[in-house]
This record gives sequence, structure tokens and C-alpha cells, in this order.
Amino acid sequence: MGEKEIIRVEHLDKTYQTRAGPFPVLKDVSMNVLQGEFVAIMGPSGSGKSTFMNVLGCLDPPTAGLYALDGRNVGELSSDERAALRNRTIGFVFQGFNLLSRMNLLDNVALPLVYAGVTRAERRARAHEVLQRVGLADHAQSLPSEISGGEQQRVAIARALVTHPRLILADEPTGNLDSKTGAGIMTLFEELHREQITILVVTHDAGVAAHALRLVRFLDGRIVEDKRTRQEQPA
Ligand SMILES: Nc1ncnc2c1ncn2[C@@H]1O[C@H](COP(=O)(O)OP(=O)(O)OP(=O)(O)O)[C@@H](O)[C@H]1O
Ligand SMILES: [Mg+2]
Repeated sequence: MGEKEIIRVEHLDKTYQTRAGPFPVLKDVSMNVLQGEFVAIMGPSGSGKSTFMNVLGCLDPPTAGLYALDGRNVGELSSDERAALRNRTIGFVFQGFNLLSRMNLLDNVALPLVYAGVTRAERRARAHEVLQRVGLADHAQSLPSEISGGEQQRVAIARALVTHPRLILADEPTGNLDSKTGAGIMTLFEELHREQITILVVTHDAGVAAHALRLVRFLDGRIVEDKRTRQEQPA
């Protein structure tokens, strides 16, 4: 496995300004992730996990500290450069799917490619390919309301994969799924991990976290534990 660092976070703080005054959410967080790692992030509600994912996704700037994504210091980029780096590097999977209800699955999945300037024919081909990969090619013409919650989550993963990202950020991707459907999602992540895609997954479920190889635990805005949980399976 390459030892290239895809995420470097040093002494990162995030403080929200609220009416009651400054509200620190992330406090002196440092963490590096190598290309190809599979990391679970756990911690109580309100401990800062989603805030951290939003910073990693370049959706929200930190208040202080360094964040480098794929070797680029995100704080030094213009908003256009930041958006381009995010679009070519990261696929997002969030709880709640965010699928557009009036678009069929194929068009939902192809959407990130519209922003990437890919031709319509290639968009359709690539959307079809990733729908196939998550087992939903037969439903390409269906609307999101016509499939189950677990299938909708697989569509959201297909949409995250369509740009061929090297990093997947998933915030409770199995949160509102039954445990069997959730396990299917994690099996898909394990497959992506074998292809050297870096995966960070936030979860409340220790069973879900057990699919990862490294566990990072947040408490009150700080990382309080960071350990390897199991070894890489030989291919
Ligand atoms: N935009 C905001 N303005 C002010 N406070 C915020 C904002 N976003 C989040 N917070 C606060 O920051 C803290 C951390 O929130 P965050 O969403 O990161 O927690 P979390 O660990 O993801 O929790 P959960 O497990 O419930 O999803 C919470 O106390 C939350 O109320
Ligand atoms: Mg959260």
C-alpha cells in the first residue's frame, strides 16, 4: 500500500459564533490519514463528528489550525480551487440521501458529472456503470420514492462514486437502515477499501465500526482515542 497522506489535520479548532457567544466545537484536533485507510469515527451526539466531516469535505472552514487535502493546504486555496479539489477528490455519503425526488435514479447519480463538465452520453454511461455496481441497474428509470430506504442509500453511494473519488466521507450512512441493510452498505465499503479508496465513516454503531481497520473516538470536540482495530486481510 502507498504511504501517501491524503488527509493531514494539525491543531484544528472550530468555534461557532452563537448569540450566547463563541461556542468551541473542535478543539486541537490532529489526525493524519493515509491513502487507502478505512477509518470509523465514533463519539457521543454533539461531540463534533459531523462538524469534523464538514471541515474535511471543505464545506466549512476551520477557525484555526491546518487542513491539507491530498497535499494541498486547503486554507490557502481560492474558493474555486477548493471546489475543484473537492470535486475531484471526495465523494460524500450522508444520512438522508439527498436524492432529488423528481429525477430518476440514473439522473440523480449522474448529477455530480454535470458540474464536472462531462458530456451527456458519458454521464449516462458512467451513471449506469455505478448503478450496476450497487446492484440497481434495473431501477435506473425509477424515482427515489419507488425504491426502499436501503436502495436509496445505495443510490447515494453510487452518486458519490460516479466521479471516481479517492476519498469517501460518509456521515452515518447506515443510520436509518435496519441492521441487515446496513451490513450490505458496509460490505460495499469493504469492496471499495480493497480498491484503495480511502474511507472515513461516522457511526454510532459498533457493529458498523467493526468493518473499519482504524477507530477514532471523539469526546467533547477532542480525539480521545485513535487505534488500529484489526489488520488488513491478505488479498
Ligand atoms: N452551525 C452551528 N452553529 C452553532 N453550533 C453548532 C453548529 N453546528 C453544530 N453546532 C454544535 O456543535 C456541536 C457538535 O455538533 P456536530 O453536529 O458536529 O455533532 P455530532 O458529533 O455529529 O453529533 P450527532 O452524533 O448527534 O450527529 C453541537 O453541540 C452542535 O449543537
Ligand atoms: Mg452528526
